[in-house]
Amino acid sequence: MIPHSRPMLDEEEIFNLSNVIRSGQISQGDEVLRFEEMMTEFIGLKGAVATNSGTSALHLALLSLNIRDDDEVAIPSYTCTAILNAINYVNATPLLVDIDPDTFNIDLNDLKRKVTKRTKAVIVPHMFGLPADIEDIVTLGIPVIEDCAQAIGATYNERRIGGFGYLSIYSFYATKVITTGEGGMILSDSKRVLEKVRDLREYDKKDIYLPGFNYKMTDIQAALGISQLNKLPLFLDRRTDIADRYTQSFKDIPITLPGWYSDRRHIFYRFVIKTRDNSDKYFRLLEGNDVSCQRPVYLPLHNYLKLDGFPGTDDAWNKAISIPIYPALSDDEIKMTIDVVRDVFSKNEKPQRHKGHKEN
Ligand SMILES: Cc1ncc(COP(=O)(O)O)c(C=O)c1O
Repeated sequence: MIPHSRPMLDEEEIFNLSNVIRSGQISQGDEVLRFEEMMTEFIGLKGAVATNSGTSALHLALLSLNIRDDDEVAIPSYTCTAILNAINYVNATPLLVDIDPDTFNIDLNDLKRKVTKRTKAVIVPHMFGLPADIEDIVTLGIPVIEDCAQAIGATYNERRIGGFGYLSIYSFYATKVITTGEGGMILSDSKRVLEKVRDLREYDKKDIYLPGFNYKMTDIQAALGISQLNKLPLFLDRRTDIADRYTQSFKDIPITLPGWYSDRRHIFYRFVIKTRDNSDKYFRLLEGNDVSCQRPVYLPLHNYLKLDGFPGTDDAWNKAISIPIYPALSDDEIKMTIDVVRDVFSKNEKPQRHKGHKEN
């Protein structure tokens, strides 16, 4: 079975990890500082604070903006529950926004329609590696937390995403673009934000007692992160190459393919295809042929909250299938994925002309 995702780790990670273990300094220390500095330079911001997960990064991001009871935080419905959890940790109210079913990103018009005076922040995940309409969103004047968990290295108008909002967060979970096993980070140009999250990240040695957290990253994790970040350009090239091969190979089968855009770089964290009708049966057929595929979002947030009126999200959830794409995928596995996808859709759907992409 070709797994849906798999990390790309090699001797360099083993070497770096061994050095950290030999040094005896395994908790937060110099490696974490180095990883933070490298990320700061890579994204092009003033500073970074590493955390033990993307979720804790989101939590600290909301606290740094003083989001609390009765504040609303706008988020898309088609995203992972980590974002909803962070809003609940600070007792704020999620304001769910629909998505554009072509891009899977937050729908700017629905966001504009729904914001109120109570909306104190918007969290914008760049879903599956494709930058959202971030320039337009920041002009709304609501503090923006960019969620780059799935899109490190993506660009919008030649600028790295993560530098458009007030602050940005990252995840280095095992299936992410670069990994530390578990891990996260907050980046910002705001000295105040960086100081606050650095302070909240640990509980020890405070003169005044306030409930704090233990959200620190270890040097063991950071040692992995450093080698992974060094390899990120190679990882992104490989993802683009696989996405290009999939795009060429699936042109004539009755599915909708992800778009390629001239104003933004999609890093293809996920290669999400859309079926013409409900995708349910295809998961079984693809898995039955040893290609593990997933719904890219387990369940929309409006389903958990029992809300209606999210047609874009419903459409995406009903039709989207994420097929394997990652640098560790071998050429044989790519070929097998192409053959299986072509076979499953050619046999099971009436041929139709593919409607094509938004832009090429
Ligand atoms: C868009 C997005 N935000 C936040 C997170 C949370 O990251 P973590 O799993 O590191 O807590 C994820 C993880 O899946 C994610 O995809």
